[in-house]
Amino acid sequence: MSETSLPFNEKYSPSNAKVSSGEKRKKEWEESLKNPQEYWSEKAKAIDWFKPPSKVLDDSNPPFYKWFPDGELNISYNALDRHVKSNRKNKLAYIWEGEMGEVKTYTYYQLYREVNGLAKALKDFGVKKGDRVAVFLPVIPELPITLLATARIGGVHAVVFSGFSAEALADRVNDCGAKILVTADGSFRRGKPVSIKDNADRGLPNMPNIEKVIVVKRTGQAVQMKEGRDVWYHDALASAGANAYVEPESLKSTDPLFILYTSGTTGKPKGVQHGTGGYLVWAYWTLKWAFNPTDEDIFWCVADIGWITGHTYNVYAPLSMGITAFLFEGTPDYPAQDRWWDIIERHGITILYGTPTAVRMFMKFGEQWVLKHDLSTLRILGTVGEPINPEAWKWYYRVVGKGKLAIIDTWWQTETGGFMISPASGIELTPLKPGSATFPLPSINADIYDEKGQPVQAGTKGVLVIKSPWPGMLQTLWKDSDRFKQTYFGRWPGIYYSGDYSVRDPDGYFWLLGRADEVLKVAGHRIGTVELESALVAHPAVSEAAVMGKEDAVKGEVPVAFVTLRSGFTPSDELRAELIKHIRTTIGPIATPDAIVMVNKLPKTRSGKIMRRLLKAVLVGAPLGDTSTLEDEGSIEDIKATYNDLRKQLTK
Ligand code: WT7
Repeated sequence: MSETSLPFNEKYSPSNAKVSSGEKRKKEWEESLKNPQEYWSEKAKAIDWFKPPSKVLDDSNPPFYKWFPDGELNISYNALDRHVKSNRKNKLAYIWEGEMGEVKTYTYYQLYREVNGLAKALKDFGVKKGDRVAVFLPVIPELPITLLATARIGGVHAVVFSGFSAEALADRVNDCGAKILVTADGSFRRGKPVSIKDNADRGLPNMPNIEKVIVVKRTGQAVQMKEGRDVWYHDALASAGANAYVEPESLKSTDPLFILYTSGTTGKPKGVQHGTGGYLVWAYWTLKWAFNPTDEDIFWCVADIGWITGHTYNVYAPLSMGITAFLFEGTPDYPAQDRWWDIIERHGITILYGTPTAVRMFMKFGEQWVLKHDLSTLRILGTVGEPINPEAWKWYYRVVGKGKLAIIDTWWQTETGGFMISPASGIELTPLKPGSATFPLPSINADIYDEKGQPVQAGTKGVLVIKSPWPGMLQTLWKDSDRFKQTYFGRWPGIYYSGDYSVRDPDGYFWLLGRADEVLKVAGHRIGTVELESALVAHPAVSEAAVMGKEDAVKGEVPVAFVTLRSGFTPSDELRAELIKHIRTTIGPIATPDAIVMVNKLPKTRSGKIMRRLLKAVLVGAPLGDTSTLEDEGSIEDIKATYNDLRKQLTK
């Protein structure tokens, strides 16, 4: 998306919402920045504290900020016990639909009972406060149950997306030093069982710290259970007893709640660490600010709980608010291309929080799939994960929202814990522009800097920065506080560096323009190009690799790899297929390159640095620009020819 084509002047006012000037939102935002202590001490009252905080923020050791430093609480108490003690006891917490169409529901009371059972089982297996519990599960109710049970006893969960490879799983489990792994026999995808335990089994010999593996029976497929190490989830619950109760641990607001790995600009994934009190307050209030759910709502966030979106908006935010959330295990186009619309109609979903990639996919399928269904229960739509192009925004607005519903485009990151830039809908609806995430949330002191750290004028692209701390921000990177400081606060001291490009229009609206670093967004998944390059050069055939993002009509971006081969290897379709398989087994299918271009030489400067700019130009078919620093000018023509040949072959 190029900046100049952005519809800076188009304003949309959905017919079901009251048009507002946006003044109330602006006033609250200004108030929150002027008086953060007062603002957040008031907001913190939405949470039940065992010991209410006397102080909002300890900023004596930046960038290690401590939110509500002397407060004590438990997140599972806030998500469960307090509702069970209220008139929400028998309200639905979750409606879950599996890939095969089966439906399971949990009231807050039922969820509370099962969480207590699992908390007891985890305790019996020796999990103590501060211990890490690794989770490798598909989207089934046992996933949030595991998170809540872990949080209840003061454990720290580390979820690994169930589509990751055995190797990626082992790396993450070893980095956080988990001693328990919770997984499942498998999951269903496109109507077929796919194994998960097998994958875990391949990684387990390389996870020396794991003492117990708890296995949920989901598909019923045959699995190997290692004597003494592996136990069935249902057996663990049975041993805990039907009426197990575990006192929720009183945790410090600053005790870690979870670690979630995400990709950065080096090969090693970053263990983003979130705390308890600040994170929960942020989760609660951001959901309230953007979507304002009520007791009548059924909130469907389509994200997998393997990512931050699912952590915050499928688990902690909706449950702490006591609303009903909908969970879906499966594929958006199985058994037919109207699965989402069918789900919305059957369950009466009121809030749909989706993604640009899904919207673009549905656009391709055609609007007839949407129009077949009664979507009149919907009252608001959301999007997240990557920039939404104005065309997709307008389709979502017109075809799904019928011109009546607001589109809430939420910009945020694993590191930010919750929404950072998005329209408000609670206090009033922010006037919308198609493709803009609009304005920062309360407390979010966002700005756009040029390379020298100077704020840019409206209309000029720069990098998005956040100039003061907020409650949901990451605490650190797990056991790597140097990397935390360096990555996020290393460029400009005291200033959080987001890694995203952005531009503000003359009305002050923020438009997000994609990553400014070596990170790709493939169908909304964050993938480090360096991770892909390291995986490629680990293959015996590959000498050097450079991975770039290429624009894609549905996925936003796809990886393309340029590689040189070691002597003794020659380019072939078989080798290409083998390298693709290699990526799928070392990282996971989400990282599958769109193309692998085998070249004789990569374009390098005389000092040996790969000129990525030139490879990018080849990908988009743009002029090469200045090539005077290139060591061997012939190499780039060769690459161009090879790439164009391959493209022809692939599109045949
Ligand atoms: C990156 C963070 C946070 C939820 C899921 C992804 C991109 C996310 C938007 C949006 C434009 C967006 C950014 C960001 N991104 N939401 N609404 N508009 N870009 O979390 O995997 O940590 O990725 O996703 O590039 O930095 P994540």
